[in-house]
Amino acid sequence: MLLLSMTIILGTLTIHDAVPLEDQNDVGNPVKRNYRFVEANNQFALSILNALDKKNNIIMSPWSFSMTLGMAYLGASGSSAREMEEVLGYRSAGIERDLVHDGFRIEESALKRVHGKNELSSANVVLVQEGYTLSKSYKDDLKRYYNSSTTEINFTRPQSVLQWVNAWGYWTSNSKIKQILTETPPKTTKLMLLNGVYFKGNWLNPFNPEHTRLEDFTNENGRKVTVPIMHMINNVSYVAYHKLGVYAVNFPYDGEDINMMVLLPTENNNLNAVEDKLTTAVLEDILAQMEMQTINVGFPKFELKDDRKMKETLKSLGMQSAFSENEADFSRIAETRDLYLEEVIHKAVIQVNENGTEANANTVIPLMNKRKLPEFFANRPFLFLIRNMRSGAILFIGHVVQLE
Ligand SMILES: *[C@@H]1O[C@H](CO)[C@@H](O)[C@H](O)[C@H]1NC(C)=O
Ligand SMILES: *[C@@H]1O[C@H](CO)[C@@H](O)[C@H](O)[C@H]1NC(C)=O
Ligand SMILES: *[C@@H]1O[C@H](CO)[C@@H](O)[C@H](O)[C@H]1NC(C)=O
Ligand SMILES: *[C@@H]1O[C@H](CO)[C@@H](O)[C@H](O)[C@H]1NC(C)=O
Repeated sequence: MLLLSMTIILGTLTIHDAVPLEDQNDVGNPVKRNYRFVEANNQFALSILNALDKKNNIIMSPWSFSMTLGMAYLGASGSSAREMEEVLGYRSAGIERDLVHDGFRIEESALKRVHGKNELSSANVVLVQEGYTLSKSYKDDLKRYYNSSTTEINFTRPQSVLQWVNAWGYWTSNSKIKQILTETPPKTTKLMLLNGVYFKGNWLNPFNPEHTRLEDFTNENGRKVTVPIMHMINNVSYVAYHKLGVYAVNFPYDGEDINMMVLLPTENNNLNAVEDKLTTAVLEDILAQMEMQTINVGFPKFELKDDRKMKETLKSLGMQSAFSENEADFSRIAETRDLYLEEVIHKAVIQVNENGTEANANTVIPLMNKRKLPEFFANRPFLFLIRNMRSGAILFIGHVVQLE
């Protein structure tokens, strides 16, 4: 069973001018347009991963992250909008403004249609200071593209805002995230954009708990720790992909629309080198090269929690003006033009274990085979991505460099 949840907040929007985007003139069909949109988001996910401090474990939801930034981008103009297009990857992919927002809408409805006994939900809401007037078009577009309602709240009573937000986070994360906010937001906050994504998936082929053993895992720093490692012999999509120096497998969830792709560096390679070279094109190529093979799998049980403030990372990637009191331009949100982004908070939790929900969860039949099976033994740092196979969207990404 895999349990994931995450919530993201964009803080204080507190403001100025619109420059029209050039006409990208995209007349492609919706599926194709959304493919480019998904690819842009995925490329952004990999940039974020590489911009983080990689000495620690990472878990985040690019989907949640991009969507919340999408709601901010919806209200951005001028240089703030241009920088966001650049950093979020929409500009280089040649996707014009409206198609970005429509991309989120299309992908959200696609996620509602994934097969199997999984839970996958996402929710958006925008909190607004009582008496603060949002432009009608912003409100309408929030609803139209992001299915986000707007709720009035009094930010000059920070304690009650804290309670409201944490209760919402608790609800959308299925009780996994107890405190999205640990500090009260500034009283000058005018707007807060919130998104929560929740996923609970059961492995199509669960691991048999009787085969879980305590074994060594070598952390990034070379220290060996003893952790529970799950085992199975099964047919899985697998490739030894030498161009990047990784072994890759896909673990499908029930319904097979969503899966976890795990990239394990080869013995003489390391995770950092893999992550540096990873692009969406490489990911696609790995997928294309994968073949069903009988594999002897060893994969640790693990739990990761992340709590990040992403402002500095986004600034380092080029999103400068949106965070600047003087330069930010969110004039599409409110005519008063006094808004800027205060912070981008991202929390995520992941639990990986053997489970399937169903009674037949443990019906994997180990296969005896005379030839030596290829082994996929994740007893050292690895990268994982949880993807919607139909669209390719990366819902969650993370890496494990140290276990305890
Ligand atoms: C929109 O959001 C509401 C409240 O979160 C939810 O009940 C509803 O199913 C959503 N609608 C769509 C089309 O996603
Ligand atoms: C918000 O709360 C403050 C402090 O309690 C109060 O003075 C103010 O009237 C409230 N604003 C609104 C619009 O209710
Ligand atoms: C794996 O695939 C082989 C060849 O297609 C098949 O004979 C075998 O039964 C499969 N094993 C399992 C555990 O599904
Ligand atoms: C897996 O599911 C079974 C049955 O629901 C439950 O008893 C068991 O505790 C679960 N195992 C884990 C590791 O969550």
